[in-house]
Amino acid sequence: MYVEDEGVILRSINTMMERKIQDVYTAPDGEIGLKIFKKHKPQIVVTDIKMPVMNGLEMIEKIKEIEPSTKFIVVSAYGEINYFLKAIELGVHGFILKPVNVSKLMNLIRELGNGILLQKEIERKEEERKRSDEALREQKAYFEHLFESSPEAVVISSNDGKILQINRSFSEMFGYTEEEAIWKVLDKLISTDELLKEATEYTKQVAGGKDIRIETKRKTKSGKLLAVSVLGTPIIIEGKQAAVYGIYRDITDRKQAEDELKASYERLQKLIQDTVNVLANVVELRDPYTAGHQHNVAQLGIAIAEKMKFPSDMIEGIRIGGTMHDIGKIKVPIRILNKSEMLTDKEWEQIKYHPTVGYELLKDLDFPWQVAKMVLQHHERFDGSGYPNGLKNDEILMEARILAVADVVEAMANDRPYRQSLGIEIALEEIEDNKGILYDPGVVENAVGILKNGVFVFSKKHTT
Ligand SMILES: [Fe+2]
Repeated sequence: MYVEDEGVILRSINTMMERKIQDVYTAPDGEIGLKIFKKHKPQIVVTDIKMPVMNGLEMIEKIKEIEPSTKFIVVSAYGEINYFLKAIELGVHGFILKPVNVSKLMNLIRELGNGILLQKEIERKEEERKRSDEALREQKAYFEHLFESSPEAVVISSNDGKILQINRSFSEMFGYTEEEAIWKVLDKLISTDELLKEATEYTKQVAGGKDIRIETKRKTKSGKLLAVSVLGTPIIIEGKQAAVYGIYRDITDRKQAEDELKASYERLQKLIQDTVNVLANVVELRDPYTAGHQHNVAQLGIAIAEKMKFPSDMIEGIRIGGTMHDIGKIKVPIRILNKSEMLTDKEWEQIKYHPTVGYELLKDLDFPWQVAKMVLQHHERFDGSGYPNGLKNDEILMEARILAVADVVEAMANDRPYRQSLGIEIALEEIEDNKGILYDPGVVENAVGILKNGVFVFSKKHTT
């Protein structure tokens, strides 16, 4: 803003200033100058001193009250020394003597303008710094809140394992106050003697930049053992490993529930096995010649399946199926079962009915394995010559193909009502001769493998 009562000077300087400065306001006296200032708030005010209505210095005083940061340049005639002194007192930034040297005035304005820009830049940076400080403070408060109010026990420790900070949940879980815990070696504080070495090794790994996630045990201040899950993660600040962050969760209840579930599952498994054994014994009670036979078939079947590297679940099925494979003989008259003479065709028909009877007995039991089908198919033969359905190759369950070989070997290697034991050599000859004909070739090879080198021997003697 330029304030000058001499119209000629005002106009000519205004014309020149307008070429170089964006918004120029002019006023013929202090009062109007003050009004314009109030409206537009110019940053630099150039003013004459002696003017009607309100002189320049009065105007400066009033403007300073409104906006102390305003810069002033006083333009005055030579000899007005008293005004100069007053102007200095008011903190005026520049003086120009009349007649006005316009380029000097413009230089002064430019300097002041640069100063204002610089000041504004400083203020902007200061504002920015304040804002980022504030954001940082908020973030810190947020993380501190998260840390403190986390339902999981959180601990920050130094790279050599000394506790730097714990949260409330850590105090509650392990029973140590912050004062008791700070600077203690974390692993010594909450590990048992047996687990200390392992815990120290884990801390070392995390301090080396590795994340760890384990389930283990830790002890409280009162010595109570807790099952915990531990999540360890390195804190890296500006690319450097600064500390170790550990989160502990009490999983004692979950572990206990898991253990109970496991125990309950094992009890059920045992119950199934015991029930199966009882059923097997029912047949064997009637027929002493086959007593032990089913057990032996199951054992040999398991050994063959293991040799063939079948999964443990399938092997469990073979155990159950093998143990009951002749359960259908319950319907065959004892007279026929124990007959030492040749059987008539009709008697044979009755004997051959036992896989179907076994299937009918077992088919509605919801086993996790195809036990009923194993029983139904254990007399089927690879080439389709077996009974009851004349199935061949892949139509026969693998478990049933294994049980068929185990059944024949067991029967030949032991005494029957109508003959003495033929011995293991004859049994091996039978399955080798009929490999790929009556019996699955893969099953035969593996059975011969374990029987020839004595890996498998029958454990249960027949009670003949
Ligand atoms: Fe049988």
